Amino acid sequence: MKRLTLLCLIICWITFPVYPFGHSLLPLFSLDPSYININHGSYGSAPKSVHEKLREYQLTAELNPDRWFRLDVQNAMDKVRKRLSDYVNCDSDDLVILENASAGINSILKSLKFQSNETILYYNIAYGMVKLTLQYVSTEIFTQEQIVQIELDHETIQNTNLLLKKTQDTINKLKNVKLIVFDHISSIPAILFDIETMIKYFRQQGILTLIDGAHAVGAIQLDLKKLDPDFYLSNTHKWLYNHRSACLLYVKKDFQKLIHPTITSFGYLQSFQNEFFWLGTKDYSSYLTISDALDFRETIANETDIFNYNHQLAIQAGNLLAQLWNSSTLTSNDIFISTMNNIELPLNIDSLDKMNILYQKLINQYNIFLPMFQFDNKFYCRISAQIYMELTDYQTVGKIVLDAISNSNFSSILKQSKDYFHSI
Ligand SMILES: Cc1ncc(COP(=O)(O)O)c(C=O)c1O
Ligand SMILES: *[C@@H]1O[C@H](CO)[C@@H](O)[C@H](O)[C@H]1NC(C)=O
Ligand SMILES: *[C@@H]1O[C@H](CO)[C@@H](O)[C@H](O)[C@H]1NC(C)=O
Ligand SMILES: *[C@@H]1O[C@H](CO)[C@@H](O)[C@H](O)[C@H]1NC(C)=O
Ligand SMILES: *[C@@H]1O[C@H](CO)[C@@H](O)[C@H](O)[C@H]1NC(C)=O
Ligand SMILES: *[C@@H]1O[C@H](CO)[C@@H](O)[C@H](O)[C@H]1NC(C)=O
Repeated sequence: MKRLTLLCLIICWITFPVYPFGHSLLPLFSLDPSYININHGSYGSAPKSVHEKLREYQLTAELNPDRWFRLDVQNAMDKVRKRLSDYVNCDSDDLVILENASAGINSILKSLKFQSNETILYYNIAYGMVKLTLQYVSTEIFTQEQIVQIELDHETIQNTNLLLKKTQDTINKLKNVKLIVFDHISSIPAILFDIETMIKYFRQQGILTLIDGAHAVGAIQLDLKKLDPDFYLSNTHKWLYNHRSACLLYVKKDFQKLIHPTITSFGYLQSFQNEFFWLGTKDYSSYLTISDALDFRETIANETDIFNYNHQLAIQAGNLLAQLWNSSTLTSNDIFISTMNNIELPLNIDSLDKMNILYQKLINQYNIFLPMFQFDNKFYCRISAQIYMELTDYQTVGKIVLDAISNSNFSSILKQSKDYFHSI
């Protein structure tokens, strides 16, 4: 009997290997243990070991500030760029590290010089900051006619052929498209795009590509040599686990001379790497923790296992919530799902006002931050998977949402003047 049990255990383990994922990893993070972090995607969360290293770097800088800023920090940054570029597979000279994606997007869009009859395309699902920067350059650098938006809906967003066809219609109308801006993994809705196909398609027509991969590095395998974009950026503090904030910016060699940071400082005209390295005196410690984040990942599991756990959890959590709420996920095609998923809210949430009430009620009464949005006339929430999360967390939040709805008086709708969704 004992032998049989042992045999069963071994067979079970081989069939369902015990990964070191889930709540057992929570003590490695600083999150309040009573808080369910269902929205890792917005701001990330770094492990305690990364925070400890951050403080070490800060103390080192204090020991001898001149030595740190004049000698050591540049070497340390070169090492970090080397380590990160190995991880995303590109030449370390083609990659710089900035504080945030806003800095990356602004630097590219404000550096490019186009003829007055050349245009820039982007999609309606672009991140708010990207759209606003495009709006800025449409009056300050280009003209409004030069910046053109393409509308995607629930069909085109999850069908690469349809998406390209829709884009081509606009390209044909305009004739002289010079640049297209798109997401690798969009924010709301969270969709993983087939950017390899998109980049190839646009390059054949001589159109440059600027890709907002804010949610990509650490969430999915990223191979920049294979993708070969012209401009690519990704926040590292979201899914790679370094301390906030850092963002990698990749620029193809051909264009490095054209691109300048929005801040001009000592590196001006020296080289792409130097221009972006020194933008004035600052604390570089968050950037340096990128190495420690990669070390942390190695102690948890191999990359494939981390990607798979989060991807599978995002799919399962989406299905679980859709079932619990009698609703559906925005896409049922796994290839468009990364580590985040979009689930239609329970069907009685049928207006922006109701959605806002629910969003606030969850924060104020249940301490749950669940991003919500409207897309193509439906109301959705976005959930993030993460190595410290388990399926039961989504079940708990799903029931809380139902509870909050049944305790809400939607007839007493407040007029909302504030936009709560600005930085999803
Ligand atoms: C698609 C997208 N781009 C950019 C960002 C972040 O920009 P920043 O690093 O400037 O806050 C986010 C953050 O949520 C995002 O989802
Ligand atoms: C984003 O990066 C830019 C450029 O480095 C910087 O000026 C800005 O302060 C950063 N934003 C925040 C909120 O730190
Ligand atoms: C765009 O304008 C330039 C000069 O400003 C002109 O040489 C070129 O032919 C124009 N291209 C198109 C497609 O209209
Ligand atoms: C990662 O680990 C799993 C077992 O947990 C193994 O099957 C897989 O081959 C490993 N992958 C890599 C790239 O090492
Ligand atoms: C979902 O449908 C089932 C069966 O029709 C019903 O019992 C349940 O109350 C419904 N739940 C919600 C949240 O609408
Ligand atoms: C809901 O709010 C409306 C308007 O403020 C009020 O008239 C109504 O009595 C409330 N209903 C409940 C059940 O609290």
